Amino acid sequence: MSDPTAPTSRPYPAWLEDAVFYEIYPQTFYDANGDGIGDLPGISAKLDYLQSLGVDALWLNPCFVSPFEDAGYDVSDYYQVAPRYGTNADLEALFAEARGRGIRVFLDLVPGHTSWQHPWFKASARHERNEYSDWFIWTDRVWAPAEGMRAITGLSERDGGFIINFFACQPALNYGFANPEPGHPWQQPVDAPGPRAVRQAMKDVMRFWLDRGAAGFRVDMAGSLVKQDPGRRETARLWREMRAWLDAEYPDAVLIAEWGKPSESLPAGFHMDFLLHFAQAGYTSLFRKGGDDGQWDGRYGWSFFDRSGHGNIREFLDEYLRDYATAQGRGLICIPSGNHDMGQRLAEGREIADLLCAWVFLLTMPGVPFIYYGDEIGMRTVHGLPSKEGGYQRTGARTPMQWDNALPNAGFSTAAADALYLPIHPDAARPTVADQINDRGSLLNRVRSLIALRKAHPALAASAEFRPLYAEAGKLPFVYERRTHDGSERILVALNPSAAAVTADVPGEPGPLAETLYGADAAITAHDRGWQVHLPAVSAAIYRVA
Ligand code: NOJ
Ligand code: CA
Repeated sequence: MSDPTAPTSRPYPAWLEDAVFYEIYPQTFYDANGDGIGDLPGISAKLDYLQSLGVDALWLNPCFVSPFEDAGYDVSDYYQVAPRYGTNADLEALFAEARGRGIRVFLDLVPGHTSWQHPWFKASARHERNEYSDWFIWTDRVWAPAEGMRAITGLSERDGGFIINFFACQPALNYGFANPEPGHPWQQPVDAPGPRAVRQAMKDVMRFWLDRGAAGFRVDMAGSLVKQDPGRRETARLWREMRAWLDAEYPDAVLIAEWGKPSESLPAGFHMDFLLHFAQAGYTSLFRKGGDDGQWDGRYGWSFFDRSGHGNIREFLDEYLRDYATAQGRGLICIPSGNHDMGQRLAEGREIADLLCAWVFLLTMPGVPFIYYGDEIGMRTVHGLPSKEGGYQRTGARTPMQWDNALPNAGFSTAAADALYLPIHPDAARPTVADQINDRGSLLNRVRSLIALRKAHPALAASAEFRPLYAEAGKLPFVYERRTHDGSERILVALNPSAAAVTADVPGEPGPLAETLYGADAAITAHDRGWQVHLPAVSAAIYRVA
């Protein structure tokens, strides 16, 4: 059997093996022109910082022309940078400047829906038939039921309701139906002219930005394009067509799915897929607790990374191991520290020691880690904010990056405080880059060292093996091994997020411990059946086994 990670058969570009991604919410990263909102020249201005952190790729949330009723996930022109962020030339400059530092820039492709202000949709909403009539999904009468989908009626000259994907402002583009219902001609098959034209339109958008230097796309709601598609079979077929086209014309381009189901998305042609808070209860069980922001509602009980020690690693691991098994040889799983949709930041309710435990985990797991901007300095959620641009309970995790408390607005912008896109976190002691960058023991520098560690060790590469060694329901520590496929390097990771010291006999293929890569020297000792692990309260350790 061939080694699935051998370069010839690796189903993704080799640079992803030690890649770390960084998600930037463009609204609130850095405001270069002082108008209160982040912008593309602002991102370019912070490339030194991003390079020093050691990240390889940036994912920018949508930065295209939009009425911003869902923060830009409601695109009204896929070919034009929103003026508030700058120009197409600024985006091209960012691609080039980032690339000059070895950083690739990924755009957010929103293929499932446009804004209701998009000219395609406006044309589609007209009474007379025209080129765009079948680009969106319209029922044939305003009074007709939408068959389990959500339709908006009464806003158009056209008789019928339009199907939406998310908010009312986001009409679904028409990729057709896997199983159109007989007697409902408005449910078109996937190869009808409208759905074919929409597919082509999205390819054109991808081509446009790839030609200008984008490295690839994070694809919004990638699994929901074809409607009434059990098992997502037709949606998968669509993406395989896209991937075949990319492989032929843009072999370096990388597609990242917002799908949350690697067993579907990776065979569908995506190079990578995320674990997501709404898709994997196991992922949510790691960091997000039942809380006060209305989003989590206590549904998931205790998080694993919690001092109480009440978390249960099996909630994560049983689910993850299934995803991990199906990803083998197909693609990579991305574990995010957070994102713009998770209303709680990683640092919510955690001190630096807790965060370090979480970062050791995030940066030593297989696949590709994603850092949500600000998580590397321990930025916290701002509570009680009114919704901004459709953010609702997500808004508090979208506030401005905290660069420097010696400057107005924490160095994010020179605008008046009340002109900012969102307020700066109100705590005067909020963490900042400036405070941490020269402090060797700071969270920022520990995260930076862990990124460097990941890159320095082939056993921590995206596709290197992962074996849980001690992962007992409701017990601690959690211990796992990473190793290269040929066994040339082995690394043990041990985590104890709880406030009590823990000791465990960990079975494993023993070997002398060669080096402490992180944590206390004495925490692991080898014996003939494995290791004894002793971890102090709220601590983590990484060892290399010779
Ligand atoms: C997922 C995006 O991450 C989210 O921010 C957006 O609101 C929805 N998709 C709709 O596009
Ligand atoms: Ca600006």
